[in-house]
Amino acid sequence: MDFRNSIKYREVIHKLVPGGAHTYSKGDDQFPELAPAAIERGKGAWLWDIDGNKFLDCSMGLTSVSLGHAFEPVLDRVKIELDKGVNFQRPSVIEKEMGETFLELVPQHDMIKFAKNGSIVTTAAVKLARAFTKRKLIAFPGDHPFYSYDDWFIGKTACDRGVPDETKELSVTFKSCDINSLKALFEKYPGQIAGVITEPEKNFCNKNCACGGEPGTFLKAAIELVHQNGALFILDEMITGFKTGFPGSIAKYGLEPDMATWGKGIANGFSFCALTGKRAVMELGSIDIPGQEKVFLISTTHGGETHGIGACLATIDFFKKNEVIKKLQETGKTIIEKCRVIIKNADLNDYIIVSDSEWMPAFVFKNRNGTADMGYRTLFMQEMIKNGVLFQGIFTCSFSHNLDEINAFTSAFKKASDVYKQALENSYKDYLVGNATKPVFRKIV
Ligand SMILES: Cc1ncc(COP(=O)(O)O)c(C=O)c1O
Repeated sequence: MDFRNSIKYREVIHKLVPGGAHTYSKGDDQFPELAPAAIERGKGAWLWDIDGNKFLDCSMGLTSVSLGHAFEPVLDRVKIELDKGVNFQRPSVIEKEMGETFLELVPQHDMIKFAKNGSIVTTAAVKLARAFTKRKLIAFPGDHPFYSYDDWFIGKTACDRGVPDETKELSVTFKSCDINSLKALFEKYPGQIAGVITEPEKNFCNKNCACGGEPGTFLKAAIELVHQNGALFILDEMITGFKTGFPGSIAKYGLEPDMATWGKGIANGFSFCALTGKRAVMELGSIDIPGQEKVFLISTTHGGETHGIGACLATIDFFKKNEVIKKLQETGKTIIEKCRVIIKNADLNDYIIVSDSEWMPAFVFKNRNGTADMGYRTLFMQEMIKNGVLFQGIFTCSFSHNLDEINAFTSAFKKASDVYKQALENSYKDYLVGNATKPVFRKIV
């Protein structure tokens, strides 16, 4: 594979853009050296890079493109909105259509606020929890990867440079899916925790997880515990939304969180996110309750941009008419089954682990000692890329992944597994060109 244009692109982009990308997980340090540096276009589940190489996409825009790249039914609605103008001095009529349509999917909630990014809505939920309870502390699982690029979250990671200690002290963490850990946190900070935010489930919520593979049971107990302690519960459906269920785990497990946050897959890659919640909480951001002290909730120039909202409306419409969730999960199941057969046949059961999560299969790559290893993971990525699959350790199922795409994935997976097996007998270093990928959250560059 020819990466000559990618090499030139890398040389320029880091001089222009800190990090070379607008999401750290898209950065050069997250990919092997033999990888595309930039994408020129996508269609369905396929991508073309700046050297003209074609790849199967397994990440689908950081899990946001749930239907497919340049997906016609979504583009049709987007084009209608583009032709009418995208931003006005007063709200667009599409905001009412969106509010009604989205809240119909989330009967637990009464009000909705829009935004262009997930971090904006999670941070808004944190602010509302503090305003509602008049408390300061925010709790989240310390072993979950990401909730916001804002200080309340980033301050608790290794990348805390620029965040004052006073801010860091206002966030506290517990072990994900572990009710006892959450109980201990409320005991440690009685009457001080304003809200708990958590993703509903992760790829490896299996029998070895603290929830014993029953995230719904943990979530219901957690909501009860949070309420007993006078705090609010925020369900972050950024990744699970439109994947684990429709609209997400809130429906799958019949949950009653005070607020929920949505983004990624809900608008097929277009920038549209949302905060939904109970009226008593959300209306703190209202301007029609005489005498109420106003919370400056979400107020952004682009939050009501019409074509992103149109993309979400078209995505919802497509999900409703086409049993998308069923297809996505069947794809996930097939990927898991076929990869497990390849792994077993290659005698790699102890070294490549596949999650049970049909809604988004994830893979762990281990070294000879049985420890998850970035070097071996990078080697696997390199071999997948060599065989035409842009892969970062998860398979985000989209509506455009059909049998041909599944076969392209498993064919590359088999070839990559063969190289992996040889590398285990020697070292990944003998096979990997360039360096291993590095953790996104690290202290030193
Ligand atoms: C669970 C979760 N919450 C919040 C966010 C933030 O979303 P955004 O990147 O749109 O700001 C992410 C992004 O990866 C996420 O995975």
